[in-house]
Amino acid sequence: MEGITGPLYRRMHHQIFGGVDRYYTPFLSPGEGGTLNKRELRDIAPEENQDLPLVPQLLTRRSGDFIGAARRLWELGYQHINLNLGCPSGTVTAKGKGSGFLAHPQELDHFLEEIFSAALPVKISVKSRLGMTSEEEFPPILAIFEKYPLEELILHPRVRQDLYRKPVRPQAFWWAAEHTSLPLCYNGDLVTAADCARMEQEYPMLRGLMLGRGAIADPAVFRKAKGGKAAQREELRLFHDTLYQGYCQAFQSPKNAICRMKDVWRCMIFLFEDEQGLDKALRKATEPADYQWAVEGIFRLPLREDAKEPW
Ligand SMILES: Cc1cc2nc3c(=O)[nH]c(=O)nc-3n(C[C@H](O)[C@H](O)[C@H](O)COP(=O)(O)O)c2cc1C
Repeated sequence: MEGITGPLYRRMHHQIFGGVDRYYTPFLSPGEGGTLNKRELRDIAPEENQDLPLVPQLLTRRSGDFIGAARRLWELGYQHINLNLGCPSGTVTAKGKGSGFLAHPQELDHFLEEIFSAALPVKISVKSRLGMTSEEEFPPILAIFEKYPLEELILHPRVRQDLYRKPVRPQAFWWAAEHTSLPLCYNGDLVTAADCARMEQEYPMLRGLMLGRGAIADPAVFRKAKGGKAAQREELRLFHDTLYQGYCQAFQSPKNAICRMKDVWRCMIFLFEDEQGLDKALRKATEPADYQWAVEGIFRLPLREDAKEPW
């Protein structure tokens, strides 16, 4: 997730909580010929990611840029690349990228034809929404995906206009599951291990489940879904402190580190009971002392068994 699940976050998550079969990078936007900027190169640098099972995600509508970036990523050791067709941000969709690409099915078809005929030595998967404005856009989009040997189709059953808050569209996902021959993965609003179990029961044919905000809220949710223990207070504390110190060092600015941590807390606060007062204090904090004060208070709150989902 952009701005949250960078290399330090992934490494610490893997070390402390584990349970994840595959991490995806936040989207990388390749430039001309597939170049990546410094921050993006650091994000996928093998030494930053140690032995993590990591899939780089690309956001582009230009096949040449995808192909160039995929070759570079392969040289770094990556064997699977994901294409982002889900990002709903206005600045992204205005350029016809992310979910904006779904409004141009012919161009998307041509793009996929080019990247699949480039004989890339990597597997290619797609993460997609249902369309831009209506789920009726999806059947022809799925017909395009079906033409190509996708490693996996990760479907987030919302349209772009739903952004992140409008309800997911379970019937559209059901339709997709009935009509696709591609390995299918579900994403959207899964928060607890019970949510995951319910989904697996309803769709035994699924290749996998992807969690975003639910996993930021409860970093142990994957472990719990595999029968492991809930997040322990000391684990959360270690996770928090390592991230905060790491960001202070990386940004050379506690204020920027606090901003970054607030993006984590936006979800993780909901693993704590009676969080409202401290949530307010945390949101207001810009100085390290105020931030630390709010964090100390949060870590004294009782932990919920599962995160609640108010976002
Ligand atoms: C702050 C934020 C950043 C995100 N960044 C990405 C991203 O870089 N790539 C991506 O595929 N999805 C991204 N997403 C979308 C999530 O991966 C996911 O598809 C969406 O939030 C729905 O799933 P969830 O309910 O499990 O969070 C982002 C979502 C949020 C809220």
